[in-house]
Amino acid sequence: MLTSYDQFSAQVFEAAGIEVLLVGDSVGSTVLGHASTTATTHQDMLTFTGAVARSVRRPLVVADLAFGTYETGPVDALRHGVELVRAGAEVVKLEGGAEIAPQVRALVDAGIPVFGHLGFTPQSVNSLSGHRVQGRDDAGAEKLLADALALEEAGASAIVLELVPAAVAARVTEKVGVPTIGIGAGPDCDGQVLVWQDMAGLSGFHGRFVKAFADLRGQLEQAAQQYRTEVRERSYPGAEHSFE
Ligand code: KIV
Repeated sequence: MLTSYDQFSAQVFEAAGIEVLLVGDSVGSTVLGHASTTATTHQDMLTFTGAVARSVRRPLVVADLAFGTYETGPVDALRHGVELVRAGAEVVKLEGGAEIAPQVRALVDAGIPVFGHLGFTPQSVNSLSGHRVQGRDDAGAEKLLADALALEEAGASAIVLELVPAAVAARVTEKVGVPTIGIGAGPDCDGQVLVWQDMAGLSGFHGRFVKAFADLRGQLEQAAQQYRTEVRERSYPGAEHSFE
């Protein structure tokens, strides 16, 4: 799974065979310039979900329920989930454990598949005191497992585990009957997800769990410099780029 928020990245990832595209609320920080995903709105999610869904045929399109659209209860979760599905989402993802099980159940009962999200949950960055690994102590690890089981029981189809010790993620993966998808959660999850601009070396974010599989930032900068040089030298556009 990779994040995607726009037509061209979605098409490239489909061509690469990526099975699942996540229109994450990370769009707020990766595209819209906000400091945190808590600034991402439901309208943002509808706009970017539509862009991705219209651009691909094969990958599963998963969209995040934005901060503030589901914490208040199943009715709000269902209303916003339905709107995401109308925008093109095939699955919705929401953050939290046992406390949001009623919301998960309401969505699933209405025919909307749900992915859960445990561990470091970015929408709670303020109460978690920043980007910290979760479930390091015994009580935290037990709560993580209990939350994962509660999500499975409520009908979640998969669970994202973010910033969780590898051994804890492995245990959760072994105990729950639905796939886990890790980000900073070690190699034993059933799948992996990264923010695409981190994966491709565009964001310049070098967190421990990130591997940049390309240097898109460097390549783009080089291309822009070359374009500027050729325009100033008047070697671009040439006759081949001009009309008779
Ligand atoms: O919004 C997002 O990009 C996410 C991933 C970090 C899993 O939720």
